[in-house]
Amino acid sequence: MAQQPPHENILVEREGPVATVRLNRPQALNALNSALMTELADALEGLDADDAIRCTVLTGNERAFAAGADIKEMAGASAIDMLQRQRFTQWERIRKLRKPLIAAVSGFCLGGGNELAMCCDMIVASESARFGQPEINIGIIPGAGGTQRLTRALGKARAMEIVLTGRPITAREAYAAGLVTKVVPVEVYLDEALALAREIAAKPPLAVQLGKDAVLKAFDTTIEQGLDYERKNFYLLFASEDMREGMAAFVEKRRPDFKGR
Ligand code: CAA
Repeated sequence: MAQQPPHENILVEREGPVATVRLNRPQALNALNSALMTELADALEGLDADDAIRCTVLTGNERAFAAGADIKEMAGASAIDMLQRQRFTQWERIRKLRKPLIAAVSGFCLGGGNELAMCCDMIVASESARFGQPEINIGIIPGAGGTQRLTRALGKARAMEIVLTGRPITAREAYAAGLVTKVVPVEVYLDEALALAREIAAKPPLAVQLGKDAVLKAFDTTIEQGLDYERKNFYLLFASEDMREGMAAFVEKRRPDFKGR
């Protein structure tokens, strides 16, 4: 894989239509400081705008996906410092990505780390992964969506337990609760995430983007509004060349050649 400079806190690699972004502060268990979050949002937006890339995998290392926001960076901050740092701008940028983002998670996935994984569209977890929101232990609560995304993913009872006790759950528990797409042995978690990314990258890109867009809409609409929204995305795809190609290939019993138009 060719590697791209010049980041200090992340590594970006590309192989065909799939990019891999690796959080790279192993000495701090990939704690998410401001510099890392800015680099991450810049890199992900760049990949999102790149026609050659169709899906991205976000990962850490075997010991930690990320152990949360950088506590050392926040320890001396006042409420107004936190407000003025606008730390959640980068999270909003990541939330608005159009192409699919898959988290490949091993080890600690805590606090802001878990919130970042939940910002992704899917999570492939190693058996060693531990998902939690330990903020309660340091006198705060999740601030990057944890209380909202966990509750939507797991329901009130499990979300309350995780947020109020700070106790992490295992990869298997996260899978059973619907937080995680797949749990695999630690040796293959990244390969499995890359295989999933390649599978999605082979699909018609516009349908993938509008499918992602419609699924995410389900989190903040009524069923009626969501169904209308889905239908409009569905109709829109009948304007794409890939829809013509996909259906023609089916009828002609051949493999489709999708162009992303
Ligand atoms: N911020 C800054 N540094 C961190 C960190 C964090 N969130 N998590 C770990 N580190 C650092 C440690 O300070 C340590 O650095 P030094 O070697 O310089 O002391 C290094 O990473 C290794 O960590 P440990 O020695 O603590 O490793 P361990 O295996 O004994 O424990 C752990 C691992 C249980 C994950 C423990 O590190 C820990 O509890 N980390 C903090 C987890 C946490 O509270 N996360 C929530 C942060 S707040 C947040 O995320 C807010 C939000 O919603 C945005």
